[in-house]
Amino acid sequence: MPYATTATTRLDHIRANLAAIRHRVGERLVLAAVKADAYGHGAIPVSQMIEATGAADWLGVATVDEAVAIRDAGVRMPTLKLSHALADDEVAACVTRDVDLAVVSEKTLDQVARVAADLGRTASVHLKVDTGMRRIGCPPEQAPDLARRADAAGLRLRGLFSHLPVSDTEGGREFTRAQVATFARVADAVAAARGTVEVVHLANSGAVLMHPEAWFDMVRPGIMVYGSLPDPTTEASVPLLPGLEWTTRVSFAKRVALGETVGYGRTWAAPRDTTIATIPVGYGDGYSRLLSNRGRVLVGGRSCPIVGRVCMDQSMVDVGPDASVDEGDEVVLVGRQGGEEVTVQELADLMGTIPYEVTCLVNSRVARAVAE
Ligand SMILES: Cc1ncc(COP(=O)(O)O)c(C=O)c1O
Repeated sequence: MPYATTATTRLDHIRANLAAIRHRVGERLVLAAVKADAYGHGAIPVSQMIEATGAADWLGVATVDEAVAIRDAGVRMPTLKLSHALADDEVAACVTRDVDLAVVSEKTLDQVARVAADLGRTASVHLKVDTGMRRIGCPPEQAPDLARRADAAGLRLRGLFSHLPVSDTEGGREFTRAQVATFARVADAVAAARGTVEVVHLANSGAVLMHPEAWFDMVRPGIMVYGSLPDPTTEASVPLLPGLEWTTRVSFAKRVALGETVGYGRTWAAPRDTTIATIPVGYGDGYSRLLSNRGRVLVGGRSCPIVGRVCMDQSMVDVGPDASVDEGDEVVLVGRQGGEEVTVQELADLMGTIPYEVTCLVNSRVARAVAE
């Protein structure tokens, strides 16, 4: 029992989620977003599993370092850096490793062409069009000219894409449909200007779940690959299994008398004599301090509240007046025990955030395991 606190990536569940996504989108290609260390699940084991099993066709990363790490781990499958690279050496690092780059403007496109020419290589690029996210991307009307410019510069224009800010909610349907219509017009205009682009792609998880009209040639799910909906209200049109289990063990247990307080700030006082278990996990591991006096964990198959403030390295749990708990007993922070389950969505709700952030917070201090 070398490590008390372990995050287990359920590769079997992630594979099942990708199979369910494939089933939903039919013949379309699937890009699995593995950026931000696969949303905190471990980009290398997740990418290696995806390549070995063919669970997806493409990988999506955010940074050059993420792309390099995946290639260094031996993963060769098509990979797109979803945002443009800034420095020449970042562009070169991607081009030499066959990592496709996003281009968003004349400037970014010319830079990739110049760096690739210096390296004597052909770079693959995907032109990003801004249809309403207002983050990165060229204006829709510039796309045909930029596409022709990419061809003239000797780039391989492999993809055309855009992004959707509200595909995951009922209230966002109208805006998303307008974006899809704009994007379809852009794809037609680019095709008329220089021929069809190989891979036209738009759909994030929200659109996989709620907008079949946004699927084009490839879908780009992230959060649903790891088992959560992008929003609690998103239509759950694909069955999903949790990608993460997070456990620790009781490090200390003691009796606390009625009225005694627990932890920093003395924010919780025992309403009765009880047993308090201490667990060696805190915000220094990514178990948010926002869960102070709000979160719950599973001990002995029962749901038990976090009491007092979550500390940097430890937290306290009220296991109840009659519980027998021993040092070393398993404690579930996320996952199932007995008939109970704590989900990533539940933690997100308690923290006032989204499931994406909950799993991204689990940091390198936590030991990692995989379940195949
Ligand atoms: C460009 C792009 N495509 C796809 C995704 C995947 O989104 P989601 O995790 O909501 O499915 C992201 C993530 O934010 C993204 O930035």
